[in-house]
Amino acid sequence: MGGGNVVNAGKTLKKDALEKYEMASLNAIKNQVLNGKAAMPSFKGRLSATQIDDVAAYVLEQSEKGW
Ligand code: HEM
Repeated sequence: MGGGNVVNAGKTLKKDALEKYEMASLNAIKNQVLNGKAAMPSFKGRLSATQIDDVAAYVLEQSEKGW
C-alpha cells in the first residue's frame, strides 16, 4: 500500500527509491514487471503488453504524486 514493498523494504515504488535504483522510467518498470527480479515474480504471460504499459505508467504517475 502507498508504494511500499513488504518483501524488500528498501526497494519501494516511491520516487526517491525508484531514482536511487534507476527505476524511475517507463522502460525500467516495464522490464521489471515483464521479467521480474529477485523475489519479484515475472508477469510475462500473465499481463498483456498493454496492461504492463498501463501499470508502469500508473506506478510512475503515483510516484510523482507521492502515492
Ligand atoms: C504488476 C505489479 C507490480 C509492479 C508494477 C511492481 C513494480 C516494481 C518496481 C518498479 C520495483 C523496483 C522498485 C525499486 O527499485 O525501488 C519492484 C521491486 C520489487 N517488487 Fe515489484 N511490482 C509488482 C508486483 C510485485 C509482486 C506481486 C511482488 C511479490 C510478491 C513484488 C516484489 C518486489 C520485490 C521483492 C522487489 C525488489 C526486487 C529487488 O530486490 O530488486 N512485486 N517492483
